[in-house]
Parts: sequence; structure tokens; C-alpha cells
Amino acid sequence: MDEEPRGTDASPVNESGNRHLNDLLVPIPRGGLTRRRLLQMGLAGGVLPFLGLPARAAGKERLPAGFAATFEAVAASTDDLVHVPEGYSLELLYAWGDPVSDGPVFRADASNSAAEQAEQAGMHHDGMHFFPFVERGRASSSHGLLCVNHEYTDEGLLHPDGRAGWTAEKTLKSQCAHGVSIVEIDLTGEGREARWRVVRPSPYARRITARTPLHIDGPAAGDELLRTHEDPRGERVLGTLANCAMGVTPWGTYLSCEENFNVYFLGSERPTAGQRRYGIRERAVYRWHEHDPRFAVAGEPNEPNRFGWVIEIDPWNPGKMPVKHTALGRFKHEGATVRLARDGRVVVYMGDDEAFEYIYKYVSRERFDARQRRSAARRPADGRLLEDGTLYVARFAAGGHGRWVALRHGENGLDAANGFASQAEVLIHARLAADHVGATKMDRPEWIAVHPQSGEVYCSLTHNRQRVDTDAANPRPGNVFGHIVRWREDGGDAAAMAFSWDVFVLCGDPGHADPKQRGNIRGDAFGSPDGLWFDRDGRLWIQTDAPSSSGDGGDYARIGNNQVLVADVTSRRIRRFLTGPRGCEMTGLTGTPDGRNVFVNVQHPGELPGSRSDPARPLGGSAWPANQFPEVTGGRPRSATVVIRRVDGGVVGG
Ligand code: FEO
Ligand code: CA
Ligand code: CA
Ligand code: CA
Repeated sequence: MDEEPRGTDASPVNESGNRHLNDLLVPIPRGGLTRRRLLQMGLAGGVLPFLGLPARAAGKERLPAGFAATFEAVAASTDDLVHVPEGYSLELLYAWGDPVSDGPVFRADASNSAAEQAEQAGMHHDGMHFFPFVERGRASSSHGLLCVNHEYTDEGLLHPDGRAGWTAEKTLKSQCAHGVSIVEIDLTGEGREARWRVVRPSPYARRITARTPLHIDGPAAGDELLRTHEDPRGERVLGTLANCAMGVTPWGTYLSCEENFNVYFLGSERPTAGQRRYGIRERAVYRWHEHDPRFAVAGEPNEPNRFGWVIEIDPWNPGKMPVKHTALGRFKHEGATVRLARDGRVVVYMGDDEAFEYIYKYVSRERFDARQRRSAARRPADGRLLEDGTLYVARFAAGGHGRWVALRHGENGLDAANGFASQAEVLIHARLAADHVGATKMDRPEWIAVHPQSGEVYCSLTHNRQRVDTDAANPRPGNVFGHIVRWREDGGDAAAMAFSWDVFVLCGDPGHADPKQRGNIRGDAFGSPDGLWFDRDGRLWIQTDAPSSSGDGGDYARIGNNQVLVADVTSRRIRRFLTGPRGCEMTGLTGTPDGRNVFVNVQHPGELPGSRSDPARPLGGSAWPANQFPEVTGGRPRSATVVIRRVDGGVVGG
């Protein structure tokens, strides 16, 4: 979600006296979308196996020696299709409203009920992971479970008449369109005829929504600040929401991260310091509070404290209740990237995606026992390593050095005298604790990825037009295009307390009028990096999420629609691999173990500035109903998972 009022990812609520306080807000120009060009592809509607076009090549230049990819870059695009390199194919796999199992089918007029929505794909697909079945002792590349986050909803598309006449049923349907999907998928057919499909029915198929019960564990479980009328013990919460990016544990479970939870709550006139710091405002973006009193803070002041966590789901055990792990801290979690320290402790890297927020790291107390790794017998998941550990926050110093500072009660001034009565309060108000220890305010930390061979860690800082005071790690004022930082933990140990870092790339448009916004990309221009993913061979895949208002005529005019690029981290060469349809964000890359199938999410195709459609004004600059994604015949645009393969069956990107 982007371009919302104060309190979402683009708008700072960090007013701490911590370094680089910015009181001056640089206004965000809002450019309108020009009228779309309608392309006739001659394809019928329905579930289309191929919904993209081979792209025209951006240039004849061959990839430089050492670049671990063979594809030719695609040109920037402003049309309404998905473009991939010559020699690649696209399949539509799983769009908003598709049933997870043998449930109700999607109705194109959005007339599915809330109960039906609870058995269908939610809206706005985001982070995602492919969990392979183990078949004949090997991880399958043709059969697995796909976990998909559904980050938020566009109520204008979700209901036949949009937000008009808001009802309890609309509230319920909206809540059921949030959360996570787990679907079983397989590749059926032979050779070039083979197609991916959702297996229906499936015993694994499951929706977790904003109404599914979740267990709360860790140091804050049961704390007074987590108790509500419905849950006087503070250990069970109804639902997860704003599920953005993700993580995967070594024991085979899925982590899903709660990001912009604040926009669902109607705050009070006199917010507490904690509510202010988390952007709980007097005006809610959603209207859930009108029919679900737990989203009105006046009557249920602790309910917001029960969101903003990392949750764990065991996709292999549909009967198991998901868990919110309070040990990982409460903030606007982007993702939760897991690796092991040298001694086997579990390390989780996490970004807090809002302007001037922080990068965090969790280190477990206990060690992971490799015998817990999933065998073919599918041992039950064990999340205890995410219940007990230490949360750290990053301080980036000039000169390429950095330190992790512990957010441990009783240390670094995190005590009752400074407003932290317990470790539970340090975690519930992790942002305030991080302010207190002087963490470095970043330009919106999004995904974090770890290089599979070198262990280097990459974090996208999507953009921050509001930055005035710069620092070494956030070097550009009015940062329109964002950048990617990377660090190497001291001694190559993920649990180290210090690291060395550099800026991997300053994104930008080399033709931009402002020299500061031109960046230093060696290759294809892009901006607003968001999703990051390393494939098994060490290629860094970068997915972009430029705001919907920045396209035509704006800073992104020459960069075009959001896209996917591949970087060689050694040579720093970057090539554009895919361009998405208008108004979309590209996100959620994951792949099969053999590297021959890549899954990616097209989120919010056709989105308008302000992130909201209005069925009463469908042509008011809108892509809808003339949009071409996912069906070229138009209809409501739908977020969707698509599969990318090479026509010759080779490794995608290789
Ligand atoms: Fe949900 Fe920061 O992207
Ligand atoms: Ca977005
Ligand atoms: Ca994101
Ligand atoms: Ca983003």
C-alpha cells in the first residue's frame, strides 16, 4: 500500500529526537495516469494459459562476461500486459477470487459473499513461497504447496457497488479477503503441453483471514497490553492482516508479516505515545470499525497491540493454529528473512517499512538442530526458536561500519524510568525502544535477501521523498528512486554484533533532470526496489513498487510500469527481465528447487493513485473496465500469481 495519509508506509510517524529528525515534509507530486492504449491480442477471456507477449528486446547488447544470465533485457513498458524475454512463457495460476480447493468459483461482478470469499484467493497477492513435496526422497519441482500473502483490499473492486452503503457483510468480506492462502499446485502434462494448476480438491488448501484465530507466544504473550474483552488472557487473537512479505524457516514453515495494520483502526482523540508512534489515527482508512467494534480504539484500546507481528504457519498441517511470535517485535513488518548463525542459532532479518524506520535482527537463544529438518515423514513444525531470543536494531555508521544494538529490557536505557516496564513492553513498542537506542532512520526498509553462497545481506530501501538530512546509508535528499544497501556480518557469522556495509546501487533514471536522482545503475533503469530474492545460483531478483501516481509524466515516465530485474552482484550489472501491467506492483518471487519454474505475483494491476477504485467512476482515469490483466477482455483487474518458464525447459534467468 502506498500514498495513504500519515501513518502508512510512505508517511513518517517517527518523530523521535533520534538522528536525522525531519520536520520538513517534501510534498509528493501526484501525476495522473494518461489514457491507456488498448492492445488487441486476439485472446479469448477465461483462464488464459498465456497472457503476456514476448517482449521486444531493449537492445542488442549481449550480457557482459560474468553475468549469470542469458536473457536479453526487455524494454520499459507502459502497456497493460506482462512482458518477459524472448523464449519465456507465462501462465496464469491463481487470481483473486479463485477457489483454494473445490469451493465457490469467482463471480466477475464481485458478487461472491463473504463466506465464499473465505474459501477463495484473497486480494492483493504479496509475499509467497513454494514448498515442494518430497517425492521418492527428493524435493519435487512439479508438486508443492504455495503460500501466498494477501496484503490489503481495494473495496471498490471487492464489492459490486464498492464502498457505497457500507455494511456488516462488506466488512466481513473485506476481512475474509485479507490474510494468507495455502494452495496445492502441480505441473501436469508432458513437454511443452505441461501446465501448472491448483489441485482441487486438496487436503492442504486453506485460507487464513483477518478472522482466523491465532495463538500468541513469546515474552509479550499474556501481557496486560495484549488483553481485550474477547481475550482477557491476551494469548489468542482473531486474525492477521496487512500480510506483506514473508520468510521460510529451516523446519519448513512459512512466516507472514503484518505491515500497515494501523490503517484498520479508528484511533482516539487522545492517542497514547505508543498509538502515535504506530500511526493509529483518528481517521481509519478502512471502515471495519463501523461493524466490528474491536477496530475502534476507544472501546478496545489494546486491539492494535495485537497486530504488527510476524506470524508462523505450518502449511503441512492444516489443523494447526498459526502463531504470532512476539519475540520478533512489533512494527510494520515487511519480511522476515531467516538464516542460521555459525553455531546454529536462528537469525531473522526484518525491515520496518515506513519512512525513517529501522532494520532489525532477531537471534534465537537456542540452536536449531538439523535433525529437525523436515524428512519425507514431515515432522511437525517447531517454532520454539522464535519464542525466545534477542531483538537487535541496526546502527549504520559512516565509513562502512555498523552495529546491532540489543533491545533487551534493562540494557541501553530500556527500563521503567524510560517507559519500558518489561521486555513485553520493549517488544510491543519496539519502535520506541529502537528510537531510544539511536537506531539509524532508513529510507523505508522493504525486503531483505541473503546471498546463498557469500552470506551477504541485501535490503531494499524503496524511496523516501521526505528525506532532508542525509547520512551515509541514506545519502540522497528527496530520495525518489530508492537504493539497495548490503552488509556482511563480522566474521561471516549471522549472529555477529557488527557488520560492514556499502550501497549496492542507487536507483534512478540516468536522464533525470535532477543529477541527484540519476543513480548509478549499471544497466537498466528502475526505481522503488521492493521485493528481493536470490535464486539458487545467486542471481539477485529485484521487484519494484513505484507509487501509482509516479508514472506518466512523473519521475518514472521513462522507467514505465513496475518490473522485475536480475542483478549480478559481483559485476553489479542489472537487467530488466519482466514488465508488469499498468498500475501494478511486482512482488512475491519464488521458484521450484530445479530453478525451472518461477512464480511471481502481479499485485494491484490497474491501481489508481490513492490505491482505491470506485465502481461509480470506472473510467475516471481508471484501467478498469478496459484493463487487460489478467484477462484481455477486461473485467475487474485481479491480483494474480503467474508462472514463468523457459520454452526450452531451462533454468529461468540462467
Ligand atoms: Fe507491503 Fe512495504 O510493502
Ligand atoms: Ca504497492
Ligand atoms: Ca513490499
Ligand atoms: Ca512497497
